[in-house]
Amino acid sequence: MTSYETFESDVLIVGAGGAGLRATIAAREAGCSVNLVCKSLLGKAHTVMAEGGVAAALGNMGEPDNWKVHFMDTMKGGQFLNNPHTVEIFAKEAPERVIELEQYGAVFDRTPEGLISQRPFGGHTYRRLNHVGDRTGLELIRTMQDKAVSYGMDVHMEITLTRLLKDGDRVCGAFGYSRETGRFVVFKAKSVVLATGGWGRMYKVTSNSWESTGDGLMMAYEAGAELMDLEMVQFHPTGMVWPPGVRGLLITEGVRGEGGVLKNKDGDRFMFNPEYMPGNYKGQFAETHEEGARWLDDKVNNRRPPELLPRDVVARAIYKEVLAGRGSEHGGVYLDVTHRGEAFIKRKLPSMYEQFHALGDVDITKQPMEVYPTIHYTMGGIKADPETCATTIPGLYTAGESAAGLHGANRLGGNSLSDILVFGRRAGDAAAAYSQTVSQGEIDPGPIDEEAALLLSPFESGGDENPYTLTAELQDAMQKGAMIARTESGLTECLATILSLQTRAQSLCIQGSRLFNPGWHGARDIRFMLKTSEIIVRCALERKESRGAQWRLDYPEKDAVWGKKNLVTTKDGDHVRIEARDLPVMPAELAGLFEEK
Ligand code: FUM
Repeated sequence: MTSYETFESDVLIVGAGGAGLRATIAAREAGCSVNLVCKSLLGKAHTVMAEGGVAAALGNMGEPDNWKVHFMDTMKGGQFLNNPHTVEIFAKEAPERVIELEQYGAVFDRTPEGLISQRPFGGHTYRRLNHVGDRTGLELIRTMQDKAVSYGMDVHMEITLTRLLKDGDRVCGAFGYSRETGRFVVFKAKSVVLATGGWGRMYKVTSNSWESTGDGLMMAYEAGAELMDLEMVQFHPTGMVWPPGVRGLLITEGVRGEGGVLKNKDGDRFMFNPEYMPGNYKGQFAETHEEGARWLDDKVNNRRPPELLPRDVVARAIYKEVLAGRGSEHGGVYLDVTHRGEAFIKRKLPSMYEQFHALGDVDITKQPMEVYPTIHYTMGGIKADPETCATTIPGLYTAGESAAGLHGANRLGGNSLSDILVFGRRAGDAAAAYSQTVSQGEIDPGPIDEEAALLLSPFESGGDENPYTLTAELQDAMQKGAMIARTESGLTECLATILSLQTRAQSLCIQGSRLFNPGWHGARDIRFMLKTSEIIVRCALERKESRGAQWRLDYPEKDAVWGKKNLVTTKDGDHVRIEARDLPVMPAELAGLFEEK
């Protein structure tokens, strides 16, 4: 019989990034008790990596912005793989959530008129990114943390949860362990919100930190929830390239939003190359440098420079420039914002200035940055109901990056922060409402004993595999085979590596005790990372077309049939079942918006 400590609440919220915090606020306002579990420390979450702003159509910059344009931009950016109802809710509610955040105490940059200042970002027709310099995610976390703490909740830090517990069909809690003491814990709850973020750590070059190993995704999968569109993994166009120790660290899109330009080693602004302009964006972007510069000065109504195309487009262009031998010294391209002047750069992009100064010995007010795409975000995730964020398991909800449906095949920058505000709140509300209709479920000791045995097995396996080696091999394989440019043969080879690593993972061997043992944590994480990677690759093999983040060199065009399908994954015994399912139909009034335009 496994021994563990038990904590009980109405609602269990897993993940203390923006979505988890906003869900906590909602659940507390509804009168529910909350246990909030963080894998790391409170305040440390990938939310801070959304630096450049939170997208919401406030229309503060003298442009005719409104939710309809935001809706259309998000659908178009997501290549119409998004759930239109989810996007509609999102675009309509985002402005209210941003204003509310300001009322909680967020200190946004201001326009001369005293309104929240908005900057341009890729794929957004208008200046829509409400920002706090280049530290918007950080300010958002700070503000919501203060608000949540003022309501009171029980925070449990450095806890890794590994299994959802069920009473019959419904979820009734979760099991895991304290990273510090190694002791097992059970969180009993009437409902659970998974706000566990993404899973970028499967790749070698990523902006994600160590927590992003797909825990929420895999707990939901193993409990029987449906996952969707896992092949859609976002490459942010601009990660740091040099020095090697910081490769992949994010350079905010805010640099390009503030006028930064991309150049190859010959000094060409390659984004003006007509070959890089997708057909559906033709005519909407500046075609000459002069026109792009006019947009920067006039602010209104000119066509934006092509550096502000959506992320999938810009990331592919950088990849092609480097492949063609036109890359920078360390294998990237140049991002140059020096023409904006020192005072402006230090005011609008203070973190970027400090980051390059401290880590790369580069003064971005005088020198260009070297950049290359980095894994930043996962559009796919746990399938969630647009209204309530309910998963397919009763009592289980999900919001933010761990959820699927909003971003389709490619997320627009800044939409992640408004996503966590809008759907974090909705998930918290719905979980609280559900909790008020049920009593605590019964905890079955069987699955707990099974999970505890699995967790402890590396101490007793007698095997000789090392979790760090396996993780490095997985990251190499994913970086090589499931990166920006994908092919049947590359993906197949990658899948074979993953399957062989899964076999080897059964012989993982850990020394020492359960007390703060990073090797043990690594052995645990790799199990979820391997299964997540397997599903990403299987879905990427299945989708035989190029769309958004899925760029198949062997199927370079969009396919009309695939354009109407989401890939839904479920656990079928030990097998991964993948089903191509029809997209929800876009209601006539939403479809009509594109015709009006
Ligand atoms: O580039 C950025 O500042 C990232 C924003 C985002 O991912 O939404």
